[in-house]
Parts: sequence; structure tokens; C-alpha cells
Amino acid sequence: MKVGIDDISLYVPGFYFPLTELAKQHGIDADKYLIGIGQEKMAVPSPDEDIVSMAANAAAPLLNSAVVNSISTVILATESGIDQSKSAGMFVHGVLGLASNCRVIEIKQACYGATAGIQMAYAMIHQRPHERVLVIATDVARYQQNSEGECTQGAGAIAMIISSAPRILEIHPHQGRHSVDVMDFWRPNQHKAALVDGKLSIDVYLDSLKQSWKNYRKDGGRPLVALQHLCFHQPFTKMAKKAFSVFETIEPDAAAKIGARSYQLSQIYGREIGNCYTASLYIALLSLLDNSEEDLSNHHVGLFSYGSGSVGEFFSGTIVEGYTKHSRKGAHAAMLKYRSALSYETYQNWFYQDVAADVASYRVPTLTSGQYRFSGSEGFRRLYAPSLHLQKKAG
Ligand code: COA
Repeated sequence: MKVGIDDISLYVPGFYFPLTELAKQHGIDADKYLIGIGQEKMAVPSPDEDIVSMAANAAAPLLNSAVVNSISTVILATESGIDQSKSAGMFVHGVLGLASNCRVIEIKQACYGATAGIQMAYAMIHQRPHERVLVIATDVARYQQNSEGECTQGAGAIAMIISSAPRILEIHPHQGRHSVDVMDFWRPNQHKAALVDGKLSIDVYLDSLKQSWKNYRKDGGRPLVALQHLCFHQPFTKMAKKAFSVFETIEPDAAAKIGARSYQLSQIYGREIGNCYTASLYIALLSLLDNSEEDLSNHHVGLFSYGSGSVGEFFSGTIVEGYTKHSRKGAHAAMLKYRSALSYETYQNWFYQDVAADVASYRVPTLTSGQYRFSGSEGFRRLYAPSLHLQKKAG
């Protein structure tokens, strides 16, 4: 049976902060960010957006009545949780009006969570092929102000339908996993921003790729020359180049054959958005699919997922014949094009000020152009609503 990604959709906030401006504020050469880190823009959520509204906005385009009625499970992966008990997926289930005959969970293992979700969905669909699983990756990547990680920040969500009739990517059964308990990146409960040992995180990532690749091959996975494309978890797009250098060391002939072109298209969206933690690998996959002028039908893709702490997994898939007919690349391109640049002051206010942390009830003004928004809190109960401009249109 073929199981894989049947449909996929991206949501990014309508605002960004240019990294040339951040370099000015930090008094450094902009090329460090543009070339050294490989980032141009940082997507910034407005105060009326969070992981739930972004997830709902990513998933909404995938949901027609046939899909809604066959979703057995909603798996939401994030490391920007909004509640210690209730799953963010449950809020999304409510906002989107999904069927009640459905299980809903949230998964956490840093940036790796969505891959765990996909592998669980893969097994679930094998067990019950007539059903579908909705996997959502949604995050706000937030580091400490003026820290080395600030330039890699970003926000966004990816929603995917996993089914037994995949129209986008058939997932192969081979898996290469590698876990090791390490403190390279973490966020204690009382912290809004992540703490990171940046250089250690790069070393652990690269070792994790090496070990995961070995395990993937041991599990019967394809040799490197049989993979035309590589998508890596990209906390910043330069990381893809560093990841490829692992193959240049351990598989020099195969790496020379597939070359840097194997990962370059997967960097385009990430440069424009920034890190989205759990969503970053799937934004890389979408970037490859949306930005290739060549028809990639039947091409094989290797994917490396990494979540600090740490879990790595290498797996692969085949791009399904006719995938372009189901592409949403026009909508994705428009979403990225029609964004507004923020001033440094607004970016700082929106990204770092948690005005409502200890306030039970408040309202948030409408700023997002997304279909769904976070509208405030009532007695510490988070509220979500369709955006006001849509309500007006409907009225
Ligand atoms: N022009 C071009 N390149 C420049 C430059 C300039 N003017 N100035 C510096 N660079 C290059 C450096 O040579 C370096 O390249 P290299 O990585 O290929 O060696 C790169 O820019 C980064 O410079 P560096 O001094 O190492 O950056 P940093 O100390 O500020 O930290 C990170 C970089 C990635 C460690 C930091 O952004 C971070 O902690 N990020 C969050 C954690 C993360 O994303 N980890 C990844 C694994 S999950």
C-alpha cells in the first residue's frame, strides 16, 4: 500500500522584519546574516496570531467535507506550546469545526515533532487505510533579544493530509533514527525565548545526520545516488550547506554526482521566512516542490529531521506523478509576496512583549489578514475567531 502526503499547505504571517535592518541595529555587516547565516527576512506574527491561528490558517485550505469526515486523528507538533494541559490541536479542532469522531494530540520533541507525527500517521493509515490523518507543524522561533540566535527567528505553519492515496509524496518504509540526551537547545517553562548553545547544536545536528543516515541505509534505505533531492531541517538556510558537507565527507563520489543542486531549491522559502522549528523541514520540501521549473514526478527525495535534545531521523519518499495538479504554489507565492515590512520598534514590541502573560481577560486588535485569529482571553481561556474583515464580508 502507498501511504504519504496527500495534500500540503503553508501559512506565514503577513509581516516580516528585514535582516539588513537587524544587522544595522546590531552594528554588524549585513552579509553575516544574508550570506553567513543565509537568511533575508524573519516572519513576525502580529499580536493576534499564535500557533493555533497559524495552524488553522494552514489547514483550512485542505478541508473539504470528504476530507473532514475521514480525518481520524489530528496531530499537532509544536515547541511553542500555549497550554501545559490542553493540546493546541484541540483548539484547532474547535476553530475549524472538525468532526467529533476524531482523536487530537500535541507532540513535542523540539523541531523533530512533525516527523514523529508523520511516522505515527503512516502506521495509522496502514492500519485503517480508509481514514486520513491531519498533521500540523506550527511554531514561533523566538530567541533572546540581541542573542546570536535572533537573526534566525521566524514563524509559520505547515498542514499535511496523510492518506493511502497520496497525491504529493509517497513515503518509503525505511527509517534511520538517532537519539541522544544532550542540552544543545531548550526552553524552561518560565522562559518565553529558547536557550541555546548554538555551536554545540550545529555539531550535534551534523553527528545526528551522520548516524541517522547510517541507520537509514542499514534499514534498507536507498543509496545517496538514488536520491535526486535532499531536504534538511533548516534552522537557518546555511545549515543545509553544512548538512550536505556531511555527505561530501562520508560519500564523496555520490555527493559530487548529485551536487549542491540537490538541496538549493529547498532553501528558497526558508530564506524568506526564518526558522519555524517543527515546520522548517516541511517548508524545505514545499520550497523544492513549488520552486522547481522541472516536473519532479517520480523523483526520490531524502529528508532529514532534527530536533534538539536530540532526535534525528532520515527517511525518504517519491514525488507522485501529477503532483503539480494539486500544488498551491500560487497561493504560497502570493502569501510571501504581499507581506508588510515592520519597523524595528514594532518588531521588538510584537516579538518580545508578552503584555497579557498574567492578565486573565483582554482583547487583541485585528491586525492579521489570515482567515483565523487569536482574539484575546476570557478568564485565562484563549479565544479564537474568524478575522473581522471576513466576518464583515460574510455579513
Ligand atoms: N560575510 C559573510 N559571512 C560571514 C560574515 C560576513 N561579513 N561574518 C560572518 N560570516 C559567517 C561566518 O564565517 C560563519 O560561517 P560558517 O558557519 O560557514 O563558518 C557564519 O557567518 C556564522 O557566523 P558565526 O560567527 O559562527 O555566527 P554566530 O556565532 O553569531 O552564531 C549560530 C551562529 C547559528 C550558532 C547562531 O545563530 C545560533 O545560535 N542560532 C540558533 C541555534 C541554531 O539554529 N542551531 C542550529 C542547529 S539546530
